[in-house]
Amino acid sequence: QRPSCRLLCCPGTVAEDLQREEPLSGSAETGSEDKTSKKRFFEVQKERREQAQRTVLIHCPNKISEKKFLKYLSHHGPINNHFFYESFGLYAVVEFCQKESISSLQNGTRTPSMGMEAAIPFRSRFFNLKLKNPSNQTSEKSCVQSSDQLPPSSKKLFELLYYAESVDDQVNTLLKEFELTEENTRLRYLTCSLIEDIAAAYFPDCIVRPFGSSVNTFGKLGCDLDMFLDLDEIGKLGTHKSSGNFLMEFQVKNVPSERVATQKILSVIGECLDHFGPGCVGVQKILNARCPLVRFSHQPSGFQCDLTTNNRIALKSSELLYIYGALDSRVRALVFSIRCWARAHSLTSSIPGAWITNFSLTMMVIFFLQRRSPPILPTLDLLKTLADAEDKCIIEGNNCTFIRDLNRIKPSGNTETLELLLKEFFEYFGNFTFNKNSINIRQGREQNKPDSSPLHIQNPFETSLNISKNVSQSQLQKFVELARESAWILQREDQDRPSSSSNQPWGLAALLLPSIAKSKSPSKNKKEKLSSERIKNLLESIKSNRTENPTDTNGK
Ligand code: CTP
Ligand code: MG
Repeated sequence: QRPSCRLLCCPGTVAEDLQREEPLSGSAETGSEDKTSKKRFFEVQKERREQAQRTVLIHCPNKISEKKFLKYLSHHGPINNHFFYESFGLYAVVEFCQKESISSLQNGTRTPSMGMEAAIPFRSRFFNLKLKNPSNQTSEKSCVQSSDQLPPSSKKLFELLYYAESVDDQVNTLLKEFELTEENTRLRYLTCSLIEDIAAAYFPDCIVRPFGSSVNTFGKLGCDLDMFLDLDEIGKLGTHKSSGNFLMEFQVKNVPSERVATQKILSVIGECLDHFGPGCVGVQKILNARCPLVRFSHQPSGFQCDLTTNNRIALKSSELLYIYGALDSRVRALVFSIRCWARAHSLTSSIPGAWITNFSLTMMVIFFLQRRSPPILPTLDLLKTLADAEDKCIIEGNNCTFIRDLNRIKPSGNTETLELLLKEFFEYFGNFTFNKNSINIRQGREQNKPDSSPLHIQNPFETSLNISKNVSQSQLQKFVELARESAWILQREDQDRPSSSSNQPWGLAALLLPSIAKSKSPSKNKKEKLSSERIKNLLESIKSNRTENPTDTNGK
């Protein structure tokens, strides 16, 4: 069970003289389409990483004077930004203006004496703040506004969706409620930075980079935190220093393969996190997986973390998704709705298994948007054609080149509404020939399936791999049936939308109900229940009757 994290926002007045209000950079993560969202992926990464390095995490007493707290910390240097959140206790994330403030703070910090237990001394950036005289300070407790860090409850979500103006409005509302907040993003980068400090005990100069949905702009509040231990920078440091007649190399230990090296490195890092990592609990070493990893919970942040190494391609695919997410505002909106729809119907799960994954769903949405006329998203091959010399990127023999400057990609002329796209997405995949065809975002068209796995989605960079290899025939079947039923509901509503007095969930909300099959399919009687095939045929007949007005998109 994850702790429920509540974010406590700081009232502006308290810290005004101590804080310099920084324009929140990297709004790419929060989805606003201002100028900063056009930043390149690595620029955002660099900025966020640097920000995290100046940041500390402090477990605070529940009753604390915010003003005194900030004043106390500012003895170590000016503070740029801070916020509080609750997760089995009160925590503060404090970003200093200068990195030097951290060592000043660490120098003034002691290792606790534990009574019966013994402490393992480790100078991290995760602190515990205690009150010297608790009774003095409680009366000055500041009043803080709180906002939730986890996604909204189903009740709140259904309420918001019910009162939305249109399906388009519903889809955008869901995006706003579920996307990572600025604070949650900061906490993710900080957590990586704290893990990096621990890994640096073995590998000084290593970098722990977040990847996956934490950075690709498709992350939902509460999603896991994927991290990649990057050791490549260590080797690179010395390369430019080799001059003259000699070349100096480190003496190293050799192992039979890259995979064995990865396993050995992750094994010691796993031990290190388990034994010395403050806040790291439930450490599991999953070293025999195709992509070996260490899984653990970072208790103070509440994040479930997956740490891998030698996973540069996954970082590149995060960058690709970041680009697709930024190219058109409909992309993320649609992906969030499809992800929530899949979760609501248990098509996805937090437990690994034969389920479809969020990553696969995102690829399906991208593919679908490449298939629109005119296309809403360009194919990966087109992004590769647009690349310049600096964009060239080959990883382990795989060509991962694509244009990285968003500003040079022409926006789509397609103006279809989200309502139409949602409906068409369900129809498209309700009728997709999964038994014959593979989904391929590189070419933006179906390919013959190279093997017999039920669902085949080509990995965009390691093209011989299927990212949905794990999906079973029955899970795929469930997906297809739910897609058809959802298309049916949206079509039916178009003709017969529930009246505003009926109190019935409508549009997107109707699709998110736990068992649309039972409550919404044309007949409730099991005997009479329409088969998925019949729904498909009915849909086709409705469509052919409506060809005169194909883009009919009623509001509520
Ligand atoms: N990945 C991959 N091939 C897979 C699974 C994952 O390349 N078969 C890469 C993708 O870059 C993906 C990242 O690993 O984004 C993290 O995987 P995962 O956590 O499963 O997906 P997320 O995109 O992070 O989505 P979620 O919010 O469900 O965690
Ligand atoms: Mg993930």
